[in-house]
Amino acid sequence: MNADEVLVGKTDCRKSLSIPAINEHLTTKHIGRELHFADSLVSTNKTSIEKAQGGACHGTVVLAETQTGGHGRQHRLWYSPAGLNLYFSVLLRPTFSPDKAPPITLASAVATADAVEIVTGVKPTLKWPNDLLLDGKKLSGILTEISAEISADTRKISWIVLGVGLNVNTKEFPPELKTTATSLRLYTGRCHPRELLLATILERLEHWFTVLTVKGAAVVIDAWKAKPNILGEWVTIKSAGKPNSVSGLAKDLGEDGALLLETRKGVVERVISGDLVQETH
Ligand code: BTN
Repeated sequence: MNADEVLVGKTDCRKSLSIPAINEHLTTKHIGRELHFADSLVSTNKTSIEKAQGGACHGTVVLAETQTGGHGRQHRLWYSPAGLNLYFSVLLRPTFSPDKAPPITLASAVATADAVEIVTGVKPTLKWPNDLLLDGKKLSGILTEISAEISADTRKISWIVLGVGLNVNTKEFPPELKTTATSLRLYTGRCHPRELLLATILERLEHWFTVLTVKGAAVVIDAWKAKPNILGEWVTIKSAGKPNSVSGLAKDLGEDGALLLETRKGVVERVISGDLVQETH
């Protein structure tokens, strides 16, 4: 019996991440070739942004076994126990202009869903703009942060940090998350290899990032729409900084990745960001 098994027992799937195993599975050219691993960080996005500001290269990945202040949109905390799940951030330095950036979030959701399906056979539902669900519960969340130089004669992305949290082997969530969060372990009843999942997500992300750069957003948006998703459902969106929410039928995605909502009055509204809640009717 090794130290991990003595510590926590085999049945909860808890095991330390193996960096050599990640490198063995990694097939990318750029993404993840510079990999920073820490046992514990406040937030991999925070460290990744510091590295971006310090000049780190395109494709740098920051990975942590646990986070003490991992967070999502609206500053919500991301539950980050050690030895069970994936918490990582990818630094991208795209050549496209800042107005072409929003679909990168859809591309990362497609990449994560591809990898989950390839490794486990499970097909998550995509919740616009950047969540993965199983049985209506959150399996993965993606936090996109961006810095751009915009002036009279410059429009340039300095960096994009994509922070991915994927609930892989959590067997039990704290009471406040039990009804809203799930994991691959809970859905399938099996333990899943985090190293292979990470390497596969990075490979799919490199693929979709190249597609977005070379072919443009339409191909990424078509890939998003080809997966199980929330289109066709009644939803409510609350956008940060806006007092009122907007409800309607999730009709389609626009050519820039915006959600097109048809309200009860038959008006189609374009929503570019916000928190989506599915309605039960
Ligand atoms: C959301 O649900 O709003 C997004 C959640 C993103 C969580 C991940 S965990 C790794 C990375 N580091 C963070 O602090 N957040 C992201």
